[in-house]
Amino acid sequence: MKCMVVLLACAAAGLAQSCAPQPGAQNLAKSGAVRQSSIYSALYPAEKAIDGIKETNSFTRPCAITAYEKGAWWQVDLRNSYKVGSVVIVNRGDCCSDRLKGAEIRVGNSANNNNQVCATITNISQTTITVCCNGMEGRYLSIVIPGRNEYLQLCEVEVYGEESKNEGQKLCW
Ligand SMILES: *[C@@H]1O[C@H](CO)[C@@H](O)[C@H](O)[C@H]1NC(C)=O
Repeated sequence: MKCMVVLLACAAAGLAQSCAPQPGAQNLAKSGAVRQSSIYSALYPAEKAIDGIKETNSFTRPCAITAYEKGAWWQVDLRNSYKVGSVVIVNRGDCCSDRLKGAEIRVGNSANNNNQVCATITNISQTTITVCCNGMEGRYLSIVIPGRNEYLQLCEVEVYGEESKNEGQKLCW
């Protein structure tokens, strides 16, 4: 019974808490290897999403932008498996922010972007979108726009989490 109480307390805390990264937390994406399904032009490669520049005007400082295509995706290989806590995505802001609507964040160990979905972007009212992955594990994190022809535009993507090998059980992630 004691166990039950503890679990419920933690679940409640998890719901109440935002998963925003702690100040000073290491952005795992920065040292990852990135690629995307296609490139709108040479100015907008996948690396623009991990260049540390959060400018949302893609004309001022280019973002990562794919061609207009079905199932456009962007992926970061974190080089090791991590329990992903949160993902901070900076959307394009000078126009067409709604292109990111419906984009899925997928985390897992398949390099083919067919991993489990940790969240779907539905609210693009803010250019900075924080997504909670609740410790979903994997080496690859993808952002995919399923089912329609679209440009995928990412001005920055930050990934926060803990290395999977660390088996120290954390009751409250
Ligand atoms: C979208 O997010 C904004 C800012 O966080 C919030 O004020 C608004 O209610 C949200 N809209 C929906 C439809 O959830």
